[in-house]
Amino acid sequence: MGALEISEEALSRLADDALARVKRYWSALPELPAAPRSDGAATAALFARPWPEAGLGQAVLADFEAIAAHARPSGGKFFGYVVGSAEPVGVIGELMAAALNQNVTSWRSAPAATEIERAVIGWLGEAVGCAGFAGSLCGGGSAANLMALAMAREAKLPANESGVLSPGIVYASTEAHMAIPKAVALLGLGRDNLRRIPVDAELRMRVDALAAAIAADRAAGRRPIAIVATAGTVNIGAVDPLPALADLAAREDLWLHVDGAYGALAALAVPEKFAGLDRADSLALDAHKWLYQPIECGCLLYRDRARARAAFTDSGDYIRILNDSPAETFAFFEESMELSRRFRALKLWLSLQYHGRAAYRAAIAQDLRHAQLLAEAIAAEPALELVAPVPLSAVCFRHRAKDNVAILRRMLARGRVYVSNATIGGEFVLRACFVNHRATEADVRAIVSETLAAAEELNR
Ligand SMILES: Cc1ncc(COP(=O)(O)O)c(C=O)c1O
Repeated sequence: MGALEISEEALSRLADDALARVKRYWSALPELPAAPRSDGAATAALFARPWPEAGLGQAVLADFEAIAAHARPSGGKFFGYVVGSAEPVGVIGELMAAALNQNVTSWRSAPAATEIERAVIGWLGEAVGCAGFAGSLCGGGSAANLMALAMAREAKLPANESGVLSPGIVYASTEAHMAIPKAVALLGLGRDNLRRIPVDAELRMRVDALAAAIAADRAAGRRPIAIVATAGTVNIGAVDPLPALADLAAREDLWLHVDGAYGALAALAVPEKFAGLDRADSLALDAHKWLYQPIECGCLLYRDRARARAAFTDSGDYIRILNDSPAETFAFFEESMELSRRFRALKLWLSLQYHGRAAYRAAIAQDLRHAQLLAEAIAAEPALELVAPVPLSAVCFRHRAKDNVAILRRMLARGRVYVSNATIGGEFVLRACFVNHRATEADVRAIVSETLAAAEELNR
């Protein structure tokens, strides 16, 4: 027996024990506090330990409960950031994908996994009104945005061979996610060459201000290359005016990338809010946000696969494919920054088919309803104030009279609901975001009662 071999019997016991613990965790989720009861020192002390010389065997699984106690639960009380709720069929997909251990570089390495990923990409494209787009799954929205802007730069300012010789200018609104300046910096374009375009009263990019910025850059001899629209800004879920931005991009011969990491998958339930998405050159999605999948499950879609190949192809001889069949020569590594890739598509393949399209549409519609319900409850409460419109499922609000930072701290300590924060108009505000298939109406109402209870505690 090899040093790492496990007998069939021991493996079976281990797997049963692990699954039993996960099932107990799922059952306990509704009772768990919304935020872990831990502090930095206690958590570090639990897990700082030497690697034992002799193996511990099945006893290692006993850590699961301690890890869970120091983890943020994906229960129905979580409304922070933009984090999906780890739909359990997707979790089982993760396990099966890891067991199959496919390296989804290409058809040759992983035939079934490649076909499944391509099928899932087709479903996601259709779901957002972009049927026919190609693409791939990746770690998350940040990776998808980075790859999209690499494609944009290579299309409009080829630099893969000689480097970036003149700065290309990228345009995004002041509400765009930090993934955009990060991508611009990583691509060597320089953050100073990212123009942050002002927004209107609904926090959407102003097309007039964008047109003026492009004109000013051209007049100064600079080289505009891409517009980044956001379909669901991280703070409030604003959808930039996609048709007008697509018109402008076409007129100015600019790449149009849409960061739909938070919002675009809601097109499944409310396609009318996302008209114009199909005019993008590239689109970032995050199935670990609004398709409730366990992290990681980002996605990049694009209209023209030749643009992806221009940006990402650099095949060494050792991976050259010895086959003439188009299906069998397909390689994700020609269209992605990654070579070794996990079988991310399996969780989607299982979860999306297990529940069906109608159930996903209904879950997203419920999140949208929950957001409206919370907005109404806040509007009806004199001590609270809604601070921004609610176009999708993110609700920004504040207590009118109390310190909202202190309220947030108290709310997390109370543990009934988990909300996070945003900066709107330079002000710290509370924010609840609904991408949570487990949330109930009672959880939504608890956001208001907990904000008031936390404010009340500050008086004591
Ligand atoms: C609009 C937007 N873009 C990009 C991202 C980054 O996505 P990820 O965390 O998957 O890298 C987020 C995350 O919240 C987002 O809301």
